Formats: sequence, structure tokens, C-alpha cells
Amino acid sequence: MNKKMVVANWKMNPSTYEEAENLVKSVLKYGDKDVVLCPPLIWLTDFSHKQRKVSWGAQDVFYEKAGAYTGEVSVPMLADAGVSYVLVGHSERRAMGETDDLVARKLQSVLDGGLSPILCVGENQRMGDSALIEEKEFVAKQLREALQLVSFAQGDNEPRLVIAYEPVWAISARSGGVADTPESAALMISHIRSMLEEIGSPVGRSLKVLYGGSVNAENVKGFATQEEIDGVLVGGASLKQDDFKKIVGVFRKN
Ligand code: PGA
Repeated sequence: MNKKMVVANWKMNPSTYEEAENLVKSVLKYGDKDVVLCPPLIWLTDFSHKQRKVSWGAQDVFYEKAGAYTGEVSVPMLADAGVSYVLVGHSERRAMGETDDLVARKLQSVLDGGLSPILCVGENQRMGDSALIEEKEFVAKQLREALQLVSFAQGDNEPRLVIAYEPVWAISARSGGVADTPESAALMISHIRSMLEEIGSPVGRSLKVLYGGSVNAENVKGFATQEEIDGVLVGGASLKQDDFKKIVGVFRKN
């Protein structure tokens, strides 16, 4: 799938191991390393131990390596289980109280542990049709805060960093399935690359930046054909076998 990637964020779905296993089996028929599956943690490591054909991602992680942190899981544990990616700062976690400082510590621990963070950023509301100054400023602040602990002098950290632009208002659970337009998402992603350069990232332009928010089998082509967009982070549609297969297929062709 060349440089592009498709990430499936199953969130707290499906309800049973059997359904989860069926979803994995279906993706294994066509998936490769550029398809990243992020199942709930309870099943993630079972799958990631057994299967290395696709890539595996966690939906969250704690920043300490080990110790008295009841209920938490560390980066070394995920790495040991064959997990390569970790979603950091997803808006649904931020809504549950995750602060910018926590996001920054998690991001740094994922980089330190040799895994790839997928940093989620995005404004809560959209005032107009295309990215406006307020929205750009909101996203720039999220980027600055999340990357505050990253030393860009250690250039080797950066190619592992992935950014997902996920405008909160376009996430299907909130928008009822109305996505951003591909043109407007591409515009914000191009702003994100400029912002990364302003923050001090020497390779900001070559980082992977994904779009997420109500991507489905019908609208995916619009996103896949935008040069600025390096892939998609898919929630709801990643739980539907046929739709997810089509989404990956469209990215392969474009
Ligand atoms: P959605 O979710 O595709 O269901 O909008 C995307 C996400 O929240 O990561």
C-alpha cells in the first residue's frame, strides 16, 4: 500500500471474543503491515502474539514502564507482545479527562520504547466550511503541548511519529456519520505539516498524517485521492468486514 496506511480503531467493540476473532480473520485475508488493527486490549495481545501479517496498535497506554499502577499497561509490555503502534490523545480519552500533559508523557514514553505513537489532534467544532484561524490555533496548541517533551534533535524519533487529524465534530459517534470534506481535511493536514516545522521538527513534511472522522466505504475515495492525506483512522466502519475491506482496497489503488 506504498506509504499510506489504514488504522482500525475498534474502540470498545465488538462484545465477544468470537466476533473479534472473525473480524481479524477477515482482515488477514487481504491485510498487510500497512493495515493497523487496534482491538480492545483484552484481545489485542492474544492476536498480536499469534499474527504478524498485519500491524497491531493499542488504543491507549500508561507512561511508566512498570510499578504500582493498578489497571494500567506499559509500553514495554506492548512491545513484548508484538504491538507496533499506540493511539495517543484520542478525543474520546481527552473527553474522559486526559490532559495535554498526560498526552505528552504518553507520547514520549511510546517513542522512548521504540513504538510508533499515532497522535490524535482535532478541533471540537467547525465554524465554517474550511479550516479557519481558530481551528488552526487549537490544533497547533494541541501539537505543541503533545510534543513538548520530544527532542527533535534526536531525529530518529520522528519518522515513527504519526499524526491523525480527527476533527471531533466529524467523529461518527457525534456527527451521525458526516465526515469533513476531503479538501478541507487536506488543507488542515497541510497546516499541520507547517505547524510541525514551526515547532522545530526538521522532517515535519515527511511525517505521516492521517485523517479520521466518519470515513466509510462510500466516502473513502475522496480522502485516498488527496496527496496530503497519508491514510485514514477508521472507527465505526472498521467493524464492518466488507466496508473495511473496501476502504483498504481503495487506498491500495490510490
Ligand atoms: P469514526 O471514528 O470513524 O467512527 O468516526 C474515528 C475515530 O474516532 O477514531
